[in-house]
Amino acid sequence: MNTIEKYVNPEKIDRKIIEEAGEIIKKGGLVAFATETVYGLGADALKEEAAKKIYQAKGRPSDNPLIVHIAEMDALGEIAASVPKKAEILAEAFWPGPLTMIFQKTDKVPAGTTGGLNTVAVRMPEHKTALALIRAGGGFIAAPSANLSGRPSPTCAAHVAEDFSGRIEMILDSGPVGIGLESTIVDMSTEPPVILRPGYITKAMLEKKIGPVETDRTVFTQAGQNAAPKAPGMKYKHYAPKADLTVVEGEQQRVISEINRIAEKKLEMGKKVGIIGTDETISAYQWGIIRSIGTRTDEETIARNLYAVLREFDHLEVDVIYSEAFDTPHMGQAIMNRLLKAAAHRKIQV
Ligand code: TXA
Ligand code: MG
Repeated sequence: MNTIEKYVNPEKIDRKIIEEAGEIIKKGGLVAFATETVYGLGADALKEEAAKKIYQAKGRPSDNPLIVHIAEMDALGEIAASVPKKAEILAEAFWPGPLTMIFQKTDKVPAGTTGGLNTVAVRMPEHKTALALIRAGGGFIAAPSANLSGRPSPTCAAHVAEDFSGRIEMILDSGPVGIGLESTIVDMSTEPPVILRPGYITKAMLEKKIGPVETDRTVFTQAGQNAAPKAPGMKYKHYAPKADLTVVEGEQQRVISEINRIAEKKLEMGKKVGIIGTDETISAYQWGIIRSIGTRTDEETIARNLYAVLREFDHLEVDVIYSEAFDTPHMGQAIMNRLLKAAAHRKIQV
C-alpha cells in the first residue's frame, strides 16, 4: 500500500487535505494524525471492520479496547449510555484536552471497537488537526497510539512512518506533539471514579473538581495474576525499547555512581550501553551512549522526550539502558508509570 504523507499546519488547516483524510476514514481506511498527547492511528469508531484494521495494523490483541475521539459535546450522548454529573464537570474543565473518560456504552459503538467490553473510552482532544479530522471523518474516530503494539508511542510523524509506512492509507504530519505521554484515563462508570492511566491531568487536578478519585493499584506495580489492570492495554508489555531498561532510583550522586559502576561492568562484558540522564547530570556519566531526556527545571521536557529517547536507543541497537528516575512534581506519576513499564519494572534502589 502506498501511504500518503501530508504536512498539515494546525494553525492554518488545509481543508483539501483534511477532506481527503476524512474521506479515507469514512471509507473505512486508516489515517494517523497528531493529538496534543501522542500521534493516533485513526479509523471510523462506529464501523467494526474499520476498527479491526487498526488491530491488524498494530498487531494489537483484540481484547484491548480503543479510545473514541469526538469533537463536540453532543457526540458524547450518542455513545455513552449515561453521563454522570461528575463527568460533565470534568468535561467542562478539561475538554478539549488530554483526558479520557470511560462510560457505559450505547449500541451505536460496535463491540469490535471496545474489545468486547460494554464500556467505552471517550476523549475530546485539543489539537486542531485532530479536531478537524474528527469532524471531516464523521465525528467518531477510534485511535490508539500510532505505534506497533509494544513499541514506544509516537511523538512525531517520523515515528509513525517508521512503524506504518506502506501499511496505512495516510499520515498527517503536524510536527512534534506538545505533551508526549498518552492521556489520563479515568473510569467514570464506577463511584468513586478510578484513574486507570496517569497523564498530564493529575489526580490533584481531578479531585479539585469532583472530590475523591482513586488510582488503580496496577498503575505502579507489575500486573500479575491477582491484579489485572482495569485498562486492558496496561497489562501488555508496553512502551518498550528493544534493550533491557533498568531504572536507578535514589539520591542523585549515588544514582550517578551506581550507573557509572554498572555501565563500566557491562561494557567490559562487551555490551552496548545506553544511559538516560538530564541536562543537569549527563556530564557526570563516563561510559556508553549518554542521552539527556530534558531538564529537571522543566519536567514537561522530560515527558516530551521520553519516547523519542527510547526509540533512539532502538536505532542505536544498545543491549542495556540505565535511566535515572523522574519523580517530578506534576508529571512524575505519568512519567514513572511509562518508564517503569518500559523497564518491565526492573528497578535498582540506591
Ligand atoms: O493520549 C491518548 O489517549 C492517545 C491519543 C492517540 O489519543 N491514545 C491512546 O490510545 O493512548 P491507546 O489505545 O494506545 O491506549 C488506550 C488505553 C488502553 O490501555 C486501553 O486498554 C484503555 O485505554 N481502554 C480503552 N477503552 C477502555 C475501556 N472501555 N475500559 C478500560 N480501559 C480502556
Ligand atoms: Mg498505546
